[in-house]
Amino acid sequence: MSGIMNSMLSALHLGGKKEEDDAPPHIPTDEETKELRESYEKAGQGQVFTYWDELKPEEKGRLYSQLQPIDPEHINRVTEKALNPPQQEGEQQKPQLEQLPDSATTSTIDSKQGDIEKWHKSGLDLIAQNKVAVVLMAGGQGTRLGSSAPKGCYDIGLPSQKSLFQLQAERIWRLQHLANKAHQKDDSTVPWYIMTSGPTRKPTQDFFEEHRYFGLDRKNVLFFEQGVLPCVSMEGKILLETKGKVAVAPDGNGGLYQALIGSGCVQDMEKRGVQHIHAYCVDNCLVRVADPTFIGFSAEHDVDIATKVVRKRNAKESVGLILQKNGKPDVVEYSEISEDLAEAKDTKDSNLLKFRAANIVNHYYSFRFLQSIPDWAYKLPHHVAKKKIPSVDLKTGEQVKPAKPNGIKLEQFVFDCFPFLPMDKFACMEVKREDEFSPLKNASGSGEDCPETSRKDIMQQGRRFLEEAGATVTSEGEDAGVEVSPLISYSGEGLEFLHGRQIKAPAVIEKED
Ligand code: UTP
Repeated sequence: MSGIMNSMLSALHLGGKKEEDDAPPHIPTDEETKELRESYEKAGQGQVFTYWDELKPEEKGRLYSQLQPIDPEHINRVTEKALNPPQQEGEQQKPQLEQLPDSATTSTIDSKQGDIEKWHKSGLDLIAQNKVAVVLMAGGQGTRLGSSAPKGCYDIGLPSQKSLFQLQAERIWRLQHLANKAHQKDDSTVPWYIMTSGPTRKPTQDFFEEHRYFGLDRKNVLFFEQGVLPCVSMEGKILLETKGKVAVAPDGNGGLYQALIGSGCVQDMEKRGVQHIHAYCVDNCLVRVADPTFIGFSAEHDVDIATKVVRKRNAKESVGLILQKNGKPDVVEYSEISEDLAEAKDTKDSNLLKFRAANIVNHYYSFRFLQSIPDWAYKLPHHVAKKKIPSVDLKTGEQVKPAKPNGIKLEQFVFDCFPFLPMDKFACMEVKREDEFSPLKNASGSGEDCPETSRKDIMQQGRRFLEEAGATVTSEGEDAGVEVSPLISYSGEGLEFLHGRQIKAPAVIEKED
């Protein structure tokens, strides 16, 4: 794992700010500068020192401390591999793509109600035993959404104005409450490990402070920071954001694994006796955080990774697919499968696509799997993301904000470790899209995966919850729905008090009245 900027991974911290950020930088001696400069020149990356002589001592100190932990040869190797991925064993032939075996899949759409109830109960039992934790991936920069604050702080326009973070926090609170109630105790705890990155760490922590951790005990909300990697030009040269600063970007959601180990989270889980972990993306407003049904199912099957999927809408939907590739669990991008395969029908039900398990990056991990991260994390490939990266034009010395992609961010994907597992340690649970997946990706007004669709999906789900509880919801507009606070219902339970009532949408159900 050499060359990864481990020093940039913060120690596990409980809310507070990293002190070393405010410390004055070490001003390097001439000897130290010479040594570092030579290592960059040898790697063909000497351009990062172009403006060294113009910098003030403090600026030199900052640039030195940024460059020093980077191994430029490692960046060269990673870039070369990302641009020209080596063929994997067996890839000379066309990959064998198959559905996951039946033994590894279930669907809450057509599972027996008895099974779902059994998994839900055992998941809640595990929560009551304090064996369940949650990991949130919130290190992305949310460029498509275009908000200056981290995505989790986004107000999707619900009547309550709750942010995504608040919705997730309240679901955790509710589960702890349900577990306590079921087991007559008062200390069920689901620790929440929140992965941030350079750009999102401080505003995320400040937001939690400002909102008093949304009623959760701050001891159990733990922030950690993923690593960053330098951005490079299309030719693989490290870019300068300013004359005294390298352009860097978070190393992708696959940076999760190194960060979990490097920050001390896995060790903290061990201390707490955590055995089952749910990991998810910040931008899914419907996410069932620490879903007891999913935890119970995964624990019963004794798998190392399980993943939730939703049914692909149609053959053309551009989503990654979870399947079996050359006998191993894998994710295949929509661009990687032929039209014929995309359109192929399931042999057991010709109304369904054969490959329909759409990846929503919503995972279960066993604790033993997270403990094994150091054995395989270095094998995760980096992918190329071509982006517009503000950087200094070395010919003019001016900082340019490019209109089209001018460079590469190197990213790891969180699901690239799936093929490291044998099939019997992997499972997949199909869930209802309308109940569990509505991502916030795009800016308001774009019509797809945007604040308006997030809001609508929550309000429509609330309406269904009420109707299932025996209430009648009336509304004038077709889209009007009901916002049900997660503090009173996690997934539709606890609303019996509304049986027989008539509710005029749009409405908010905050508490039993
Ligand atoms: P996306 O790939 O959708 O990226 O992240 P994004 O940052 O949210 O949005 P764009 O692409 O810049 O518009 C999916 C999930 O992975 C997390 C994000 O926070 C989100 O929860 N992620 C992404 C990280 O935690 N770290 C990263 O480096 C990248």
